This record gives sequence, structure tokens and C-alpha cells, in this order.
Amino acid sequence: MVDVLLGLQWGDEGKGKIVDYLAGNYDIIARFQGGPNAGHTLYVNGNKVVLRTIPSGVFHVHCLNLIGNGVVIDPVSLMGEIEQLVTLIPDVKDRLFISHRAHLILPTHRALDAASEAAKGVDKIGSTLKGIGPAYMDKTGRNGLRTGDILSRDFRSKYEKLAQKHRQMLNQYAQIVNWEEWEQPFFEACEYLASLKIVNSEYWLDAHLNNGKRVLAEGAQGSMLDIDYGTYPFVTSSNTTAAGVCSGLGIPPSRIGEVYGITKAYCTRVGSGPFPTELDDEFGEELRKVGNEFGAVTGRSRRCGWIDLVALRYAVMLSGVTRLIITKADVLDNFNPVKAAISYIADGEETKELPFDLCDKVIKPVYETFAGWGKPISTCTTYEETPQVFKDYCHFVEQYLGTKIVFISNGTGRDQLLTIS
Ligand code: IMP
Ligand code: MG
Repeated sequence: MVDVLLGLQWGDEGKGKIVDYLAGNYDIIARFQGGPNAGHTLYVNGNKVVLRTIPSGVFHVHCLNLIGNGVVIDPVSLMGEIEQLVTLIPDVKDRLFISHRAHLILPTHRALDAASEAAKGVDKIGSTLKGIGPAYMDKTGRNGLRTGDILSRDFRSKYEKLAQKHRQMLNQYAQIVNWEEWEQPFFEACEYLASLKIVNSEYWLDAHLNNGKRVLAEGAQGSMLDIDYGTYPFVTSSNTTAAGVCSGLGIPPSRIGEVYGITKAYCTRVGSGPFPTELDDEFGEELRKVGNEFGAVTGRSRRCGWIDLVALRYAVMLSGVTRLIITKADVLDNFNPVKAAISYIADGEETKELPFDLCDKVIKPVYETFAGWGKPISTCTTYEETPQVFKDYCHFVEQYLGTKIVFISNGTGRDQLLTIS
């Protein structure tokens, strides 16, 4: 069976830590979408490690790690990531498998990303500028290069054809770029990539599943950044919801088992776009400080606000979440009261549905208010030990979302995780 783990908000829900924890139960961890715009932070033996394209199972010696066909790969970034890990995990390359069909991010894709954002001016998406959007555009535009192409003899000419097209597009923006400086590291990294285990990953996965292996599909970004269901156009360029698992790994829906959905006890967003429960005041500032809400990839400060159950219920519905995980609950230790949005007032009407044109509407959230926890939960080692007010809050969230909470993360430490049976 393939279990799935997804972020339910705008990313940065703390997926890295949870995958790292759950990885012990799985044989294979597979990424199915996104690319190096992701930043999954893990703390291993006191060291902070940020994973971008490599699945978060690498620190478990028995786990194989797959970069699926739905992922877009920047060879330079991936090579750097592997080389940085080699000292910590000498056999990282032996346990890493990459789909032939995963599309490549070219240096020109990064330049196009920057040019596109600059052209949008005040309407910019707030992209991580890793070339994700342009790479997916070339995929759906049927121009893209795939990882398997690196192995073909005419890779250079395929590259040249596409890069030439990109250069012409970039001329419009009068960007002066020294291409050679970009291309040399790219081709070096492509050679490096060619030496890794590039596989027909849909057959590879099918064979492992037939042998009874357990797979965890690791999502990146979050449900509200989904290209179809997120706050379009302020979204990423892939399906971050459970739908992306089948297309991004080549597995049938009948093989999907549990769907773990992760949410913070509050909410954050990095980049532009609507955020109905955003706190533009000292409480938002406090959340940012206590929660250390700064981007793992770009270092940008994250926008902070209350948990939004309207958006969460939508995300739970879209992916059929069966198990809920709450992270960073300890960040609210000193907040009193704690709030959760339970409906929106839009155009004078109250609704529990997410409007399709959220970006064009003024939304006033309606909040449920809870008393603060009263004592720090960061020091609790079991769920039973947590204060009753915290349990009441968890119960409310479960009822509203119709899904059971199975884990609560109450600190950055690998062992700061409360399980609820
Ligand atoms: P892009 O996917 O890099 O083009 O970024 C599009 C939007 O998604 C921007 O608002 C980014 O800040 C956001 N985004 C992309 N990847 C992540 C992530 O891993 N965590 C949080 N936000 C992300
Ligand atoms: Mg992140």
C-alpha cells in the first residue's frame, strides 16, 4: 500500500520532521511533485538539515528514496544536496532512485522565473525563483527535457534547442546573463546525475508493492498552493493534494491507503496571495518570533495568523485525509486566547466554503475563541499530560474537520511528538 503525507495549509507545516518519524514504518519514501522550492527541515543528532529534492527518508538506513516522475529536478541543486549529505550518510546515493520521466529545470528556467516575476510587478506571486513554474510550463507545453534524456547521445542538441527558445524569450526582458557561467555547472551536474540510479520508476514501484513493500508518498508545499485548488494564481505549479500522488508516481488510486494531513496549530504563508486569518499586528509578530517563521529555502519571513478551519476542511475533503497531525502546538503556549476561524463572511454572507475567487474578495473570518493552554505543552511527554483546555481545542478541531488527530508535535526535537491512540 501507498500511504500519503501532505501539508494542508500553505506549506511549511513541518512535514520533514513527521516523515522522518514515520519513515521507520516504511520501506520506500517517494516524492511525487514540486522540486527544490521545497525545504524540509530535519534535526539529526542536533544538526539542522534542509532537504530540497531528496525525500525525507534518507536518514533511515533501511529506507529507499524515490524522486518520482511528477517532480522537477534541478541537477545543480540536487548534486549540491547529495554532496552535502554524503558526509552524514555515506550510502545516500545507493538508496536514491530517480524517475526517467522527471522533468529537468534548466538554468534558463530560473532566469525565466525571475523575469516573469519582475514583469508581474506588484502582482508577483512571491515565487521561490527556483525555475519551478517555467519547468512545469515546458512540461505541459510539450517542450521539456526529462532526466532520462541526460542518458541519450543527443542530449546537448535537445538542450540547445530549448535553451535557444528560452534565450529568445528572455531577450524581451533585456536580461543580460553570462550563459556560459550557468551552463558549465549545469552540464557537470547532468553528468553526475547520469551516474545515479535512474529508473523506470512506475515499474520499479509496482514491483516493490507486489513484494509487499510499504511506501510513503511525501508531499511538498501545501494544499492551498495546489495549482487547481489553491488560491490561484498565488499557487505553485503542481498538484499538492492527494490527486498528485497517482500522476506523480504512476500508481493507481486503489493502492492508496492512509492519508496523513499536517497542519500547524496556527497558520503561515510565505509569498503573496490571500490569507484570511493573517494577523498583521503584534500577535502575528509574536507567532513569527516564537515559531521561528522564516523560510528554509529563501529565508523570507513568513506571514502568520490563526488556524483557518474553513481552508483546512476544504483540504481534508480534497485529499480524503484519514489521520490528522498538528504541529508547532507549543508555539501557542503563551497565547491567551487562542482562535480558530470557523466561517468566512464574504459579500455580506456567511459561508463555510472556500470561494473560488478568494483573491478578489474581502473576507472577514468568524472565530471560535479558546482559553490559552495555561501551562507549556512543550514539556509534556504524553497527550494525557496536556491541559484540558488544550484537549478541548484538539477535540473541537477533530469535530470540525471530521478527522482524528494522531500526532501532535510540541517542539523541534525529534522526540517531541505526542501520540494519541
Ligand atoms: P514557486 O513554486 O517557487 O513558484 O512559488 C509559488 C508560491 O508557492 C510562492 O508563494 C512560494 O512562496 C510558495 N512556495 C513554494 N514552495 C513552497 C514551500 O515549500 N513552502 C512554502 N511555500 C512555498
Ligand atoms: Mg518548507
